[in-house]
Amino acid sequence: MDHSRKKAVIVGASTGIGRALAKKLSSEGYVVGLTGRSLERLEKLQKELPAESIARELDVRDLREAMHTLRNLIMILHGMDLIIINAGVHFQNERLNWNSEEEMIKVNALGFAGIANVAANYFAEHHAGCIVGISSVASHRGSGRAPAYNASKAFMSNYMEGLRQKFSATPIKVIDIRPGFVDTEMIRGRKGLFGIISPEQAANDIYQAIQKGKRIAYVPSWWKIVMWFFTRLPESLYHWGYRRYLAWDQGPFRAYEKAKPS
Ligand SMILES: NC(=O)c1ccc[n+]([C@@H]2O[C@H](COP(=O)([O-])OP(=O)(O)OC[C@H]3O[C@@H](n4cnc5c(N)ncnc54)[C@H](OP(=O)(O)O)[C@@H]3O)[C@@H](O)[C@H]2O)c1
Repeated sequence: MDHSRKKAVIVGASTGIGRALAKKLSSEGYVVGLTGRSLERLEKLQKELPAESIARELDVRDLREAMHTLRNLIMILHGMDLIIINAGVHFQNERLNWNSEEEMIKVNALGFAGIANVAANYFAEHHAGCIVGISSVASHRGSGRAPAYNASKAFMSNYMEGLRQKFSATPIKVIDIRPGFVDTEMIRGRKGLFGIISPEQAANDIYQAIQKGKRIAYVPSWWKIVMWFFTRLPESLYHWGYRRYLAWDQGPFRAYEKAKPS
């Protein structure tokens, strides 16, 4: 392995934004550590990368094991300069099915915190490094369709602010990435979305944010303006808009039935 190259680990590299980021970082000369639940998909991705990479199976639902795997991966890579914590799940969950709620919290919130903990401790010991968390514009407000998803992203963004405060007098960077809509499996089939960008464009924007050492980056950047207005909407107006959206999406009767907890 070429020890002079920078090393990045991507948690959740097998599809979508993580996959595009793996390609981007590899083309920029990083040695990349790829992780995800499917080793087969990661090995397929490895064949497409121009630079050296290492793939490891890792499931953040089994968090202690995942943290152990990450520590090992850092050792095998002979260090880490950058970690992208991208693993995430999203389920539309009008009926508040607990399995779905629990999985979103486990992967997006608890999984994120466990992985960030390993990375933060590693970087603190080495007095350098960069943690990038892929949160969402959804972190700003609650969602009746996916309460656990938006809450888990709010957790991520708040946690990253805490880490930024902790490391504020050090060279360690913590970057909160808030994408809008990116054309991946996660949003397929959802209606009424706008401003959708490709995973490659998202990866380019995220790479720019890392290069510039930003604290928070909206992807694309115009989402910052949208969210400025969105966060200022009174709650009554926000809920009215949500009910109108459900009625448009599903028809009035199905909307009511679906919104009712079973
Ligand atoms: N697409 C959007 O519009 C959008 C918008 C805002 C934010 N985001 C966020 O962007 C991130 C990437 O999402 P995406 O859009 O690229 O969707 P995606 O294609 O479904 O990617 C999700 C990634 O997470 C990994 N993952 C899922 N569960 C995991 C687990 N238990 N352990 C380890 N890895 C796991 C998946 O790999 P395996 O399946 O191999 O495990 C995959 O690499 C997510 O955090 C998502 O919340 C997406």
